[in-house]
Amino acid sequence: MSEIIVKASDLCVDFDIRSRAFGKPDRLSAVRNANFEIRRGETFGLVGESGCGKSTLAGALAHFVPISSGELELNGVRLTKNSPKADWNKARHGVQMIFQDPFGSLNPRFQVWQLISEPMLLAGEDDEKLLYERAVELLGLVGLSEKDAGRNIFEFSGGQRQRIAIARALSVNPEFIICDEPTSALDVSVHSQICNLLLDLQEKYSLTYLFITHNLALVRHLTDRMAVMYMGQIVETGSTDEIFDSYAKDGGESLHPYTRALLSAIPEVYPTPGRERIILEGEVSSPINAGDSCRFAPRCRYCREECKSAPIAGREIGKDHVTCCPYFG
Ligand SMILES: Nc1ncnc2c1ncn2[C@@H]1O[C@H](COP(=O)(O)OP(=O)(O)O)[C@@H](O)[C@H]1O
Ligand SMILES: [Mg+2]
Repeated sequence: MSEIIVKASDLCVDFDIRSRAFGKPDRLSAVRNANFEIRRGETFGLVGESGCGKSTLAGALAHFVPISSGELELNGVRLTKNSPKADWNKARHGVQMIFQDPFGSLNPRFQVWQLISEPMLLAGEDDEKLLYERAVELLGLVGLSEKDAGRNIFEFSGGQRQRIAIARALSVNPEFIICDEPTSALDVSVHSQICNLLLDLQEKYSLTYLFITHNLALVRHLTDRMAVMYMGQIVETGSTDEIFDSYAKDGGESLHPYTRALLSAIPEVYPTPGRERIILEGEVSSPINAGDSCRFAPRCRYCREECKSAPIAGREIGKDHVTCCPYFG
């Protein structure tokens, strides 16, 4: 069994959007030349501000958003834009997703045990007794009980609904779970309960997680390695400890300027006296018809002339640590 569960090489996702009545549609470049790998058993964090392409990238891994170019290796299957459906289905086996909004992703017409066992049903299991028993077992695993099995989803709180969504994801014994902002829609008071549940389950079932969030405190707490994304581009990947420690040590002089700005905005993680919050200035450019040069350049205080035209390229600056800034690291 390979140690690497996901490997993305120059992965791109574009959307054609029509902003004029005539002529060619514009191309919104939502993910551009993404390069990263996720290793078996780890939690890999993906951070970046809202709209930077995190969910699109997750959708590409789970194959509900088609990739435009580049290559993806998923569970040992090599996939490109033209790969047959059978290859995608084979690769996708063992991949599940948990979404931000358990309200929207669970159909209110079903009873809880039906919601939980639905992925098994879709996978071909139709023995109702078995489906019910597995749902009850899963309810126990996520801190609910058999008496919840026949209830309706709208009888539950947000945190409980997310527990149900987690039970549902687990029903088909996945190896890899993509958690797309799983706590963002919940009260802060239940964040840690859901995170601890995810950690317990990971240990119990040796799960691999892609944990997507814009909450850096959660990234620090939960992830082993991380990627930072800005407007469709992954600007830095590395071990979470190394990136955060580097910020604590010298204000992140060796980090990508965008990573540094992001980390400076979380005083609760590093309340270092004298360290300023970096306020990003400059205009935010648009991902529409955007190219390969650094998309952060218009907001970067260290931007040089060549940053505006040269394509960005990853550069290894330490063990496992890659930055796309040619000047820092
Ligand atoms: N189906 C779609 N069609 C057109 N544009 C889309 C579509 N889905 C996402 N986008 C655009 O892609 C960009 C990335 O969106 P998204 O992946 O949802 O970001 P995030 O999850 O980081 O908030 C945004 O500019 C968004 O408007
Ligand atoms: Mg999103």
